[in-house]
Amino acid sequence: MVFESQHPLVKHKLSLMRSVATKPKKFRELIREVTMLLCYEATADLKTVNIDVETPMGSAAGQDLSEKIGLIPILRAGLGMVDGIWEMMPGAEVWHIGLYRDEETLQPVSYYNKLPTFPTVQVCLVLDPMLATGGSAIATVDILKKWGAQRIKFVGLLAAPEGIAALQEAHPDVPIHVAQIDSHLNDIGFIVPGLGDAGDRQFGTG
Ligand code: PRP
Repeated sequence: MVFESQHPLVKHKLSLMRSVATKPKKFRELIREVTMLLCYEATADLKTVNIDVETPMGSAAGQDLSEKIGLIPILRAGLGMVDGIWEMMPGAEVWHIGLYRDEETLQPVSYYNKLPTFPTVQVCLVLDPMLATGGSAIATVDILKKWGAQRIKFVGLLAAPEGIAALQEAHPDVPIHVAQIDSHLNDIGFIVPGLGDAGDRQFGTG
């Protein structure tokens, strides 16, 4: 399942992120805000349990989240997607996965993974602004499935049709939530028209 956000705020903020005139500080603010909006959509089916809450006026029927949630940012560009979600779901665990794309082969290379032996969360939100060839997302979902995660969702900003097709083929059970699906990948694996390198634009390293 692919969910492309139709929310006007998402479209507006994503357009600002694409602009070459947007500097890293503003870019970091925007990635945080867009991610919060995407997360709101991506978490609409989280399970809850009924609870009673004591209000100053008596008892009210309430709900509590019943699943343990893990945020899985793919380093480095996924880092900027953590804070906003974490503010809304402070009980979430954050597990970093370090992958970079080999510039020649475009294959993901793993350099950081400190997941404990047994899964500690039920729902994993994989966070990466860019779904280009899909290699990084597929490798991360592979890792999480081997770890024993029961439910995994991908949350990103921009996706190329090639990356969506690859992720869906490798992991058809993983829903994909993105702000926008772009036209295509260029010959060096960048999303077109895209927004450039999401890592460089956040960290000022471009
Ligand atoms: C970029 C991006 C994704 C990946 C997407 O990371 O942030 O992680 O490429 O490409 P894929 O779908 O083809 O795997 P990059 O390798 O530039 O590393 P960085 O985030 O550390 O800059």
